[in-house]
Amino acid sequence: MKHAVQALIGAQWGDEGKGRVVDALAKEIDVIVRYQGGANAGHTVIVEGKKYVFHLLPSGILYPNRLCVIGNGVVMDPGQLIKEIEELDPSPDSIGTRLVVSNAAHVVMPYHKKLDFLSEMSRQKSSYGAIGTTGRGIGPCYVDKYNRMGIRAEDLTEPELLERKLRMNIEEKNTVLEKLYGAEALKFDELYEEALEWGCFLKPFIGDSSAEIDEALRDGRNVLFEGAQGTLLDVDHGTYPYVTSSNCVAGGCCTGGALGPARFDRVIGVVKAYCTRVGEGPFPTEDLSSVGETLRRNGAEFGATTGRPRRCGWLDMVALKYSVMVNGFDSLALTKLDVLSGMDEIKVCVSYEMDGYSVTRFPTSAHLMENVTPVYETFASWKEDISGCREFGALPQAARDYIQYIEKTSGVGIGLIGVGPGREDTIFRDF
Ligand code: IMP
Repeated sequence: MKHAVQALIGAQWGDEGKGRVVDALAKEIDVIVRYQGGANAGHTVIVEGKKYVFHLLPSGILYPNRLCVIGNGVVMDPGQLIKEIEELDPSPDSIGTRLVVSNAAHVVMPYHKKLDFLSEMSRQKSSYGAIGTTGRGIGPCYVDKYNRMGIRAEDLTEPELLERKLRMNIEEKNTVLEKLYGAEALKFDELYEEALEWGCFLKPFIGDSSAEIDEALRDGRNVLFEGAQGTLLDVDHGTYPYVTSSNCVAGGCCTGGALGPARFDRVIGVVKAYCTRVGEGPFPTEDLSSVGETLRRNGAEFGATTGRPRRCGWLDMVALKYSVMVNGFDSLALTKLDVLSGMDEIKVCVSYEMDGYSVTRFPTSAHLMENVTPVYETFASWKEDISGCREFGALPQAARDYIQYIEKTSGVGIGLIGVGPGREDTIFRDF
């Protein structure tokens, strides 16, 4: 086996096409772990003509005999997870022991979604502005986790403990809802009943995920940690405050998936051949002209979770080099190269200009980033349809030059190249 433990991380602002890379790797992977985020993520997988949309379940669940883990670092929306399990198969028993939800994963409660919505509305009216969240309750759930009052998956199966925790939460949330937002108060009975039902359904899946991962490794099975969102949305290392509330970077695998750093032997960064971003926040290479529109149309850049049109622009090497630095990528997977076919030219941001100075270090704070102007290098494009290419040498010279430029500038080799939407539209180069 080439790699026992791998991490697959989004190198940009999410939506890099991680799902397709997981799909390409999945046939050789035994255990797939989600370690952060929640139902804010979304990917669509089409297998034998049937479309599946997953927000919480790792897509590896579609492969027989794969163990799928929802780690402790994930915030789990039980209603959404149950829906995905039920849609997968009318009988959840058929998943059997192939799904483990960490007992320590925090539960996204209906009030987290309500608070997410109300907080966004209130920020919208302030001079600070909204974040543009997915509305899935992610931020408020992590707030409760770090405030040590969250409800964890294991609590759903302990009626008496659940009651105490829920009463404490409802008391606090109702003060905020009524006094701060003038919203309707929550009713304990309804929420408690619903939470007990979730517990009954999910009980067979809730377990000690770290022990399961360790046992799998001891048995000689290999593990892939699948990141959600991307490095530039990481709560510590992204463009704060326009970020999500978890650690999307490689380091997040250790805490959110419960495995020590020395046990990882490869970190793969997934990079789209251009850039996209959903929600608010700085995006230096955003193209608001017809070029951005073309990228959006050709790349079908609409959110899998919210359906929002994604903001589109050119590849940003300042951001990518930063991403390589904070994640320590060993290899890159370059997706959606075909979307650049037929463009008049391809631009790549090589540095920023800020207050008359040239900046090559990525400034992570949003207020500094608002003031940067991208400096571009222009590359020739290619007209050919590249979706049939299966080898690097078969790509047009201009495409090869683009790839080699990214490798040279980032210092990391590109092992996989996506040349079309289909599973088979992939070039593997020592991956
Ligand atoms: P939240 O994660 O819903 O709190 O949203 C915070 C920010 O992260 C917003 O800008 C969202 O658009 C963005 N975001 C969250 N999940 C994803 C994702 O899966 N892809 C791209 N952007 C995301």
